[in-house]
Amino acid sequence: MTSRDIRQAFLDFFKSKGHQIVPSAPVVVKNDPTLMFTNAGMNQFKELFLGEAVAKYPRVADTQRCLRVSGKHNDLEEVGIDTYHHTLFEMLGNWSFGDYFKKEAIEWAWELLTEVLKLDKDRLYVTIFEGDATEGLQRDEEAFNLWKALIPEDRILLGNKKDNFWEMGDTGPCGPCSEIHYDMRSTEEREAVKGQDLVNMDDPQVIEIWNLVFMQFNRLKDGSLVSLPAKHVDTGMGFERLVRAIQGKSSNYDTDVFQPLIQFIAKKSGIEYGADEKTDIAMRVLSDHIRAVSFAIADGQLPSNNKAGYVIRRILRRAVRYAYTFLHFKNPFIHELVPVLAEQFKGVFDELYQQQDFVEKVILEEEVSFLRTLTQGIQRFETYASDNKTIDGEFAFELFDTFGFPIDLTELLAREQGLSVDMNGFQQALLAQKERSRAATAIDTGDWVLVNDDEESEFVGYDSLNATTEIVKYRKVSSKGKDQFQLVLTETPFYAEGGGQVGDKGYIRSLDTNEKVSIIDTKKENGLFIHFVNQLPSVLTGSFEAVVDGQKRKDTEANHSATHLLHAALKQVLGDHVNQKGSLVSPDVLRFDFSHFAKLTYEEIKQIEDIVNAKIRQDIPLKEERNVPFQKAIDSGVTALFGEKYGDHVRVITFDDTYSKELCGGTHVAATGQIGFFKILSESAVAAGVRRIEAITGTRSELVIREHFELMDNLKELMNNPKDFVSALSKLLDENNSLKKEIENYVKEKSQGLKDEIEKKLEKVGDINYVATIVDLPSVDAVKTLAYTLKGAINDIFIVLGAVIDGKPSITVMISDNLAKEKGMHAGNIVRDLAKEIQGGGGGQPFFATAGGKDASGLEKAISKSREYIK
Ligand code: SER
Repeated sequence: MTSRDIRQAFLDFFKSKGHQIVPSAPVVVKNDPTLMFTNAGMNQFKELFLGEAVAKYPRVADTQRCLRVSGKHNDLEEVGIDTYHHTLFEMLGNWSFGDYFKKEAIEWAWELLTEVLKLDKDRLYVTIFEGDATEGLQRDEEAFNLWKALIPEDRILLGNKKDNFWEMGDTGPCGPCSEIHYDMRSTEEREAVKGQDLVNMDDPQVIEIWNLVFMQFNRLKDGSLVSLPAKHVDTGMGFERLVRAIQGKSSNYDTDVFQPLIQFIAKKSGIEYGADEKTDIAMRVLSDHIRAVSFAIADGQLPSNNKAGYVIRRILRRAVRYAYTFLHFKNPFIHELVPVLAEQFKGVFDELYQQQDFVEKVILEEEVSFLRTLTQGIQRFETYASDNKTIDGEFAFELFDTFGFPIDLTELLAREQGLSVDMNGFQQALLAQKERSRAATAIDTGDWVLVNDDEESEFVGYDSLNATTEIVKYRKVSSKGKDQFQLVLTETPFYAEGGGQVGDKGYIRSLDTNEKVSIIDTKKENGLFIHFVNQLPSVLTGSFEAVVDGQKRKDTEANHSATHLLHAALKQVLGDHVNQKGSLVSPDVLRFDFSHFAKLTYEEIKQIEDIVNAKIRQDIPLKEERNVPFQKAIDSGVTALFGEKYGDHVRVITFDDTYSKELCGGTHVAATGQIGFFKILSESAVAAGVRRIEAITGTRSELVIREHFELMDNLKELMNNPKDFVSALSKLLDENNSLKKEIENYVKEKSQGLKDEIEKKLEKVGDINYVATIVDLPSVDAVKTLAYTLKGAINDIFIVLGAVIDGKPSITVMISDNLAKEKGMHAGNIVRDLAKEIQGGGGGQPFFATAGGKDASGLEKAISKSREYIK
């Protein structure tokens, strides 16, 4: 069976058992502060497990792209070294939301594996949870008995909390689980050592393929477990491992999931896969990492210097390093793998195929810039290595931090030169940095405190800016020593930050006490609308009036609708490759990031503005459709965003059926006329292949235009209100230029005159030609020119020139080079001393120095004092 067939067989099987097949969520997680990346198929259903939302379908199945590179589940270091861990992998999953439980989950898993996929029963083992006294949890008898009916008892093994109690993160839904393992060793090997002894022992040939989790608990912040409102099933099967088992390969990388990539790398590097352990690892790393990086970018996470973006950047650098060191790719290569991967996932995850050019471009740019620091870092390393016997921890950390060198690269370079690395020192430096960044970002979130049994929380803010509501629950969050509280309301008119639109502000007022508390922000977390307040109302129970700041909301809506008009105009003017890559919609400004490869021309910007403003003047009424079936919306040609997780019913925002139609959860003007006027303020690059437009609308553009007119009026008035401002101004600039030239000539002439005069005043003291005098020149530059002219014309000079420029005294000292050298005279020191007389300071070189001061009355004295320096 090909990997495509296997995936399909899984989905078909669960469809036949009444499951709804749903799409994979993006690999980049939004709206969940506990997760950066999707690390399990269940993530997108977390709110259903927690009872924060109601399941549309009680049974669901899918293939989810997952990334295990940070947080609780992190496999990065294993990847490539072994043959069965991956950064990005597909998790095949089936779920029951309060529907079936252990019996069906276990029986169907067995049926699929042994009857449909025809895996060898004699190679299968299962584990069940043995219980845990400290948590007060019993052994999972139910699962044990269910398995006993299917598989000999000696193949059912007991597992501890680490292996058989699944948790998504430090907090959240969890429960006992039952794993299915497969033994891929040869018959002889299996006779020699029992499979039972190798389950969960990190044997590369005896591996877990499927995990059936029976979700029953929620882990709270304080570590305690509470029962979930209903019991659920969450299963996850490692697709790549399953394919390997079915295809009978000894490595995931030998299956048709990875071979196209590996063979491409082998061909391009001219090195055969299987030829050498080191190059094999490098090829595995590349073929794995390109998947993680490509899908993260396709799902909207660009490489960057913080958080999720940094994780992606590091994975990519890890790949570049392997390619550079072991496969001898000295030029960017990894981006070339994108088309191979995109082709493989066509029809499965089309996001990549549809954005292939963009993803390639982003990766190429990253490669180019890292290869530059990689070479620099290696040079820096070599210089250091020639002077030192060990690589100290601080230096290893500098390579890591500044040049992006993973520590194993530094170790490798050191080994090649017979040096050692102070790993302890490195770990300490690393820890110190982690501590610094942890302290800067640590948010301490308390558990929810229930006020009201009504768990429902409904957003009514599309239709109304106020509501009568009650507090459902609240919790405390602390960050950087500051406490805030979060509230969930039964009914809320407050829009929660999402789709780029900022969260609403406003207040709630207790109807019992009249006390008002400001809502400073509103955000969404999983399915909840969370209102931020600096302090809790003193009485939490009873009814509240919730009121949104209407003006801010209105301004925000103008910007949001304008963003849609802009998006459509960009596609029209620049082409269909334009996709939204980020957006901020606030009351003051809108910011729109989109994929495009060149700077916009002035003409293009003008065209875009014209289209948007024409649409505004047409006063197109908003068409808002809620609850449209997703597929129906897509078929009608709606614009959907990559990296967005859409439900199976969506909201469609249309401004003219033939112009702008987007999936959107935001709030909008009732008709485009309310946007007023649209003006682009700037256009710039934000990343490789991503441009940013900042623009304003409505009252803000009025304000900015008024400011511009005022500025113009002031300028015109300054110029005596000429008829043609531009030609009047350019005439003025021309005049200014020719006046400058005239002054230059005048100064030149004057300096010439002064030069003659000074020459006459020269006094021969010993073998020095000395003069100290006050000159009348308009600028320091003119004095300087004079000094240099004198130096060029006369030998052995020591000249001190005083001048008063714009009322301020200055002193210039010039000494012939030979005098400075032979007699040890130093113009800088002399000028500094003389400047005391004019309450000033200065300095310079031995032959030339200047000083400025405050007190012009001391200038005479300073000048005559210079005579003391003639030795
Ligand atoms: N959530 C479980 C896992 O990740 C099963 O899907 O293993």
